[in-house]
Amino acid sequence: MSLIDAAKAVRENAYAPYSNFKVGVALTAKSGAVYVGCNVENVAYPEGTCAEAGAIAAMIAGGDTQITEIAVIADSPVPVTPCGGCRQKLFEFAAPEAKITMASLSGEQTIMAVADLLPGAFVKAQMDNA
Ligand code: THU
Repeated sequence: MSLIDAAKAVRENAYAPYSNFKVGVALTAKSGAVYVGCNVENVAYPEGTCAEAGAIAAMIAGGDTQITEIAVIADSPVPVTPCGGCRQKLFEFAAPEAKITMASLSGEQTIMAVADLLPGAFVKAQMDNA
């Protein structure tokens, strides 16, 4: 199964009764394992979590720490893009050149490198004076 198909499949399990916007993410880790995640909303809206966060949590729980490729999909008019917070979360674990495929259910795709999603990312070196 392709990474985008894995993201599409897990999207079906998203719990999104408040936004009705289901998102699925699949990522490949350096070990070759594929981890998936979907958004999980909450009646206390800020407690909801994004699909990217779910996939990253599954990866860490599975013992991997390096993302080599990511796919994200939603039923959006244009390919869905990760929110700002998730860009920072992805940057923590993905090589800057890691490929991210952003897709819509209708089949449109945008492909970028993770680094291009977050110019000026906050990185550990900025805390060197601390
Ligand atoms: N959402 C994600 O899970 N990932 C994205 O890349 C964009 C937004 C979720 C959060 C919320 O459950 C819903 O989509 C609407 O914002």
